[in-house]
Amino acid sequence: MAEPTTTRPDFARIDAQRLPELLRVMPKAELHMHIEGSLEPELIFALARRNGVDVPYADVEELRKAYAFTDLQSFLDIYYAGASVLLREQDFYDMAWAYLERAAADNVVHTEMFFDPQTHTARGVSMQTVIDGLHRACVDAREQLGVSALLILCFLRHLSEREAFETLEQALPLRDKFIGVGLDSSELGHPPEKFARVFARCRELGLRLVAHAGEEGPPAYVWSALDVLKVERIDHGVRSVQDPELMERLARDRIPLTVCPLSNLKLCVFAQLSEHNLGALLDAGLVATVNSDDPAYFGGYVNQNFTETFAAIGLQAQHAWQLAANSFEGSFIDDVAKRAYRDRLDQVFASF
Ligand code: HPA
Ligand code: ZN
Repeated sequence: MAEPTTTRPDFARIDAQRLPELLRVMPKAELHMHIEGSLEPELIFALARRNGVDVPYADVEELRKAYAFTDLQSFLDIYYAGASVLLREQDFYDMAWAYLERAAADNVVHTEMFFDPQTHTARGVSMQTVIDGLHRACVDAREQLGVSALLILCFLRHLSEREAFETLEQALPLRDKFIGVGLDSSELGHPPEKFARVFARCRELGLRLVAHAGEEGPPAYVWSALDVLKVERIDHGVRSVQDPELMERLARDRIPLTVCPLSNLKLCVFAQLSEHNLGALLDAGLVATVNSDDPAYFGGYVNQNFTETFAAIGLQAQHAWQLAANSFEGSFIDDVAKRAYRDRLDQVFASF
């Protein structure tokens, strides 16, 4: 095995003008994306035609125009409506494959994709249809694109804990096809502790645990995601900066934050991208990462998130390296695979 690299690349050599190219070519992991949020309007209409589902918009342009959000809920209403065109195993495959090809083009070498089964089972689609289609795309991505892809099942937090338990029961026969569970949907009014027992059960089952917290919700939700749910990563978490003690905890325990800058902009978490706190999170020593969340709805895939955010807040080559290194550190792959990706990252920087 290669010796651990302790020295960092010589960042001063890298011309600032070449930063967009560096961001593009560097290998990276994506740790926060909802596969249903990668459904492009064109695919929504194609699947609607294939399945005979009615879409209440005249065409792709009219649908895209509706993507003007004021907060998380205004997005979720459209996002759940868009997912209603997904009925068959092949639909789930096609959606995931389209994302995986885009991810590969952005030099994403590893991705951990969220899926929302309750959005589909509520419409009579079976858990097996959902998971089999997504998982088959993950297997093909490894073979055909060289991208490793894992699945994380998310519970919808606006629904009850009982419904989360039922969802878990339905998914357990397919346990070998997903690595963990998360918590998403409407955050405010649905604190992590609502799901304490179902997360405890998932922990006993050896599932990896993550939760959205501190996107619109207060730092208290990040604390309870950590201390009650015992999650290993926080999705978003940008509101943690309001609580210095929480920032210390996140830094000390190296809890990754999966930050999604363009999502934060589109959902008005920050009024301007130039006000985004990604730089502050890195400066505080947090294991922050950059991710696309719902790329079809928020204006870009992961590299777009990198390039727009770097331009808006003036980040540089060392931040690019740190964010990519953080993405591998924060992933749910084993230490040998992490080491191999880190070496690849260092090689790209050394020869850039
Ligand atoms: N937050 C909460 N739930 C979600 C999101 C998000 O950004 N995207 C898809 N479901
Ligand atoms: Zn999200």
